Formats: sequence, structure tokens, C-alpha cells
Amino acid sequence: MPQRRILVTSALPYANGAIHLGHLVEYIQTDIWVRFQRMQVNDDGSPVEVHYVGADDTHGTPVMLRAESEGLTPEQLIDRVWKEHDRDFKNFSVGFDNYYSTHSPENRALCEEIYGKLEQGGLITKRPVEQFYDPVKAMFLPDRFIKGQCPKCGAKDQYGDSCEVCGATYSPTELKNPYSTVSGAEPVRKSSGHHFFKLSDPRCEGFLRRYTQGDNHLQPEAANKMKEWLGEAGEGKLSDWDISRDAPYFGFPIPGTDEKKFFYVWLDAPVGYFASFTNHVRSKKLGDKLLQDFLRPGGNTEMVHFIGKDILYFHALFWPAMLEHAGFRTPTRVYAHGFLTVNGEKMSKSRGTFITANSYIEQGLNPEWLRYYYAAKLGPTMEDIDLNLDDFVARVNSDLIGKYVNIASRCAGFIEKKFGGKVQDPENWKDDAILLNIRSEGSEIAALYDHREFGKALRKIMEIADRINKLVDSDKPWELARQQGKEIALHSICTRALEAFRLLTLYLKPVLPLVAANVEHLLDIAPLKWSDIENPLSSKNNIGTYKHLMTRVDAKQIAALTEANQESLKLGAPAAKPAAAKTTGKAVETATAQAGHISIDDFSKIDLRVARIANAEHVEGADKLLKLTLDVGELGTKQVFAGIKSAYDPATLVGRLTVMVANLAPRKMKFGMSEGMVLAASGDAPGLFILSPDSGAQPGMRVK
Ligand code: MSP
Ligand code: ZN
Repeated sequence: MPQRRILVTSALPYANGAIHLGHLVEYIQTDIWVRFQRMQVNDDGSPVEVHYVGADDTHGTPVMLRAESEGLTPEQLIDRVWKEHDRDFKNFSVGFDNYYSTHSPENRALCEEIYGKLEQGGLITKRPVEQFYDPVKAMFLPDRFIKGQCPKCGAKDQYGDSCEVCGATYSPTELKNPYSTVSGAEPVRKSSGHHFFKLSDPRCEGFLRRYTQGDNHLQPEAANKMKEWLGEAGEGKLSDWDISRDAPYFGFPIPGTDEKKFFYVWLDAPVGYFASFTNHVRSKKLGDKLLQDFLRPGGNTEMVHFIGKDILYFHALFWPAMLEHAGFRTPTRVYAHGFLTVNGEKMSKSRGTFITANSYIEQGLNPEWLRYYYAAKLGPTMEDIDLNLDDFVARVNSDLIGKYVNIASRCAGFIEKKFGGKVQDPENWKDDAILLNIRSEGSEIAALYDHREFGKALRKIMEIADRINKLVDSDKPWELARQQGKEIALHSICTRALEAFRLLTLYLKPVLPLVAANVEHLLDIAPLKWSDIENPLSSKNNIGTYKHLMTRVDAKQIAALTEANQESLKLGAPAAKPAAAKTTGKAVETATAQAGHISIDDFSKIDLRVARIANAEHVEGADKLLKLTLDVGELGTKQVFAGIKSAYDPATLVGRLTVMVANLAPRKMKFGMSEGMVLAASGDAPGLFILSPDSGAQPGMRVK
């Protein structure tokens, strides 16, 4: 094999939110692969050269608006988030060689170069685009900032692409009564000139056909998806890609335009990989030849991108096409993984399963438990992976503690106490069949890691651990230690078990770097490389005092973790408790009364409850009312007449949760008894909006 030189990346996380356990699937997967490669040497004995870079993805409308809402400049926001992300990655041993930012001079220069080359090559075209525009905020609105009524079922507050109530899909222009989620204003249609990358150009299309179907650049399932997206030759399925955005925008200005146009965030984001690598090379003075070797064609180097399946389109089409036609190298491999579910469901804030990396650490959980669990679940496909919290506890305790650590805890102590920290002379065991066998499995385990078959690799490793535990069980060193004249037998079993433990540690090192470092210290050996399979323990090593390498997971810790993530949601919600709740005493009460306020006691007289609309129907002869039957949990069912007929079709209300006043005196109406009131919002403009609690709320819950 020729010398391997690899540039590895993980997708760049957005700079407007925290790293969570979903993100970590990717960063841990990449890091394991990187650590595995770093343990390898080339045929000539030189180490495999690996550069692992990342960065925050800082540009775009969400970052701009988020900064504004926090009273910060975008630069201040991305600075703060960078520090948080950097802390989280370090905590989980995600070992980037450089963690950078797309808001950097290197990135700007590279984007300008790429854009310039594409323009020279005739691959940029300009044409007007009509889009939604917020006249109050004076900005164009990305689709996700527009909501309105579903054109099919009329449900309110639906996003511009699909309806969460009836499942219909449509385009934002089809929404009824659309409004901007930024200002609430009704968006208007407005035209503006946009810049496009001509993906439909035959040069791009031809290249992408070759690229996506050849040389194993993509996983087989991804290559198939690309076939679908590309369609048949001449079908013209690829559309040009809109790469510009109007001001106000947080991003890089497009050079050579008078109007204020910016590069769309997805243009500069992948270029951020190159910017981070450039910064890595320059700041560490590794020599500009590296930039040539890794970023330009013909360098005989690999570039490997780890990404989630949701961003395949960008990495398998736009990015390679851009690079190919701007004089840069293209990705060698794009590896897409699936999405994380927790307990079989999408991560959910109300269930406490939307778990941030930092809360995991703050609850005192060991990051290597999670690294191990993810690795055990990961394979080379785009299949989703599930973090089942009960299984997590069971798996970590049984594999890592019960099988792996157990070997050292049962044998290392005797070597130190009874044999002065020296293993038995290797002459006695160098041909031990069990050990030879474990060593021979190294190449298979290596191939599994290289192919991202982490789950299979760990199963093999745990099988080895099982065999060693059986051996220790049958030789019973703890009994030998109590018997006269059994010193040799004791020395032999403890030595062989410890050598096996060394090999297991070597095999697990990409997954458990911190435990491995502690074992290297315990065994008095140099940092383990794959080639150390053939470098057994000997009298040169002074085996140290065995200390716990890892503790068990306690199920209570997991309960506390999900609780903490639910808690933080409650605390984070604005106005969860009226400010007056904290203040008592006459002076304050008088002050609030004067200002036209009510006291908390006044407020708490109103019994607000979550109610499920069990039934809704028109009322004969009433033009404003609907008759609702409400399930209010412990309070039973209540019948309410609500003046919402103008805004709701009864069929769409059935099953919905809403909020009612449950202790309003019952009132006899023309059509029957009304036993409460359903709350709805309205303003000067037409429209009536009933309230809904966040998912997770149950009928009968108090609202306070
Ligand atoms: N900023 C873009 C990537 C730009 S790359 C040039 C982005 N950011 S992200 O923060 O939304 O996601 C970063 C990575 O984490 C993506 O690869 C994404 O697929 C992955 N994941 C985010 N949530 C995830 C899960 N719940 N499960 C698994 N991976 C997830 O996309
Ligand atoms: Zn609908």
C-alpha cells in the first residue's frame, strides 16, 4: 500500500445552538475513525498522516436573528458559541487538529477564489427571483420564517412546506393568510436579482454522473439516491443553484456586485473545511506544500467527509461540482450516517430526551460510556441509530465493566503485590495459543474499523474478553493466591490475562482514548499503536497499582439526566412564573395595584386547565358558535359553547389540546349549558386563534 495521507472532516455545526447527543453521533464516529487511522503505520513504518479539521458554521439568517434577539452582534454570538462547542468537543475527546470558523479571512479568500473561477468558466448566471419579503423587517424571508394556514385543511400556524396536522405538502406561496414569524407582518412578493451556480450546465451534469457513480466516492445507497436526483441524461432534472442572498444577511459579500448581495451560507460552509485546514497548516507552519497536496488535484491524498444523511445533497452534488470547476480537488469519500433517536423516538424537549452534550457532562456521566455505546451501534450505512437509555445502562455495565475492566481488576493487583510489578518471563508464554489467537484477530478488527463497521469490531472484541474471563474463572487466581506452592500458576494466569488485557485495550483505544491512556500508565507502556500487537509485556514494564479504570452507570444518573433536560426547558421558558410571584409584602402589593396590576392571588383564582377537544360540532341556528365537548382529565368532561365558528372547521379540532377556564360559573345559553370557556387570541385584524400547549401536556393539567 502506498503511503496514506488523509484530510478528515465532520460537518460544521451551526453557530446558533448547543451541541446535543444527535450531533455527537457524527463527531464521535469521525473521531473514532481518525484515532484508528492515527494508530496505523505505512508499509515503510512511517505513521499514516491524518489531519482532522472542523469549524463552526456561522453565517445565515438564523444566526443574524438569534444574535439580534439576544442583543448581541453576530460576531459576539458566534464567539460565545464557538467557545461552548470547543468545550463540548474537548469533553468528549473529539480530537480536531484545528477547530475554526467559517467567519474567517481564509474562508472569505477561498470563497472569492472559487466564485471567481466559476464565473470565469461561465458557470455563474444571474436572474431575478420573486420571493417573500417582510415589509416591516425589510428583509427577504427564508421559507422557515413563514407560517400560515394549510391550503388543504386550513390548520393555522403551519410552515411553508408541509402541514403537521393533515400531512399535506405544498410550497410557501400556497399558504393561506401567510405571516412572517419575524415581525408577524403579512409578507409581500418581491423580486430581486440572484446569482446561480449553473448545475444544469452539461459540464456539471456530466461530471456529477461520473463522480457519483464511480470510484466508491459514495456509499451504495447514497449513489442510488444520486441517480434518482440526477435523472436520465438529457432529462434536465438538475436545476441551477441559487447561491446569493440579499441584505440584511450575515455572511460574505459577493465581490463585483454593486447591490448588496451575499454568498448563501451553504456556499461558504463547505469551503470552511478548506479554510480550517489552511489555518491549521499556516498557524502551525506545516508548509504551504501541504495546501497544494491536499487542496489541489493530483496531490495523491485523500479527503474524507463525515456527514449526516440530511446534508448529502450539498456534499455529493453542489460541493464536488463547485470544486471540480474551480481548480480544486474533489472529495475522495463522503460517508453519511443516520439520525439519532432516543428510546425509539425523535429527540424531544418535553420528554427530556433532547440532551445537550454539556448537560451530559454536568450530570457527571462518563463521556466514554457514550462513545462506547454509539460505537457499538454504528455501522457503515445511513440507517438511524437508537439510544435506548435502559439498554445504554445495561450494555455499558455488562461490556465495559463486567467484561473488559473486570479482567484487569482481577489480575493486575496480584502482579503488583506478589511479583514486584513484574510479569512472568515471556519465554513461558510467548507461544500461548490463546494469546496468539487474539493477536491474529487484529487485522480483521482493523479492517472493520477502517470500513466503519464499529459495531462488528466491538462485538469481536467483547468475544475476546469473554474468552479471557472464562480462562480467569477456571484458573481462579484469587484461590491460587491463598495456596502454598501455586505461585507459578498464579503468575502465569495473571500475566496472560494482563497481556490479553493489553491487546483488548489496543483494540478499544480508538473508542476509549482516556481509559487507554490510564491503562498505558498502569502497564508502563508507550502509547499503543496497532503494530504493538506484536510487542508483548515483558520484564521492562513495571506494572503499577491497579486503580478503578471505570465505574458502573447507575440508572439513577440517567433519570437525572432526562430530568435536567426537562428542567432547563421550564427555566428557559420566558415568564414561566409571573415576576410578582417572588415578591411579597404590602409595599409591593400596593405598587402593583396602583399600576393596574393584579396580585398573584387574584390570578390564581382562575382555574386554567389543559383540555382535549373530544368532540366539536356545529350548532343548529347559531352563526358564531361551535359546541365543544372537552375532556379535562380529573375534572371529567365539560360542554362549552365557543364563538370560534368563523375560524375553525369542527373536524380539524377533534383530538386537539387547548386551554380552558374550568371554574367559570356555568351559564345557561339558548342552545344549552356552557360549563367554561376556551381561550383564544384575536387582534384588530381578522382571525381567531385558540391556544395549544406544547406536546407532552395532558388533559386536566393546571396552567399557572
Ligand atoms: N451547518 C450544517 C453543516 C454544514 S457542513 C459544511 C449543519 N449543521 S447542524 O448543526 O445542523 O448539523 C451538523 C451535523 O450533525 C450534520 O451532519 C447533521 O446531520 C448532524 N446531526 C444533527 N442532528 C443529528 C441527529 N439527531 N442525529 C445524527 N446526526 C445529527 O447541518
Ligand atoms: Zn393541513
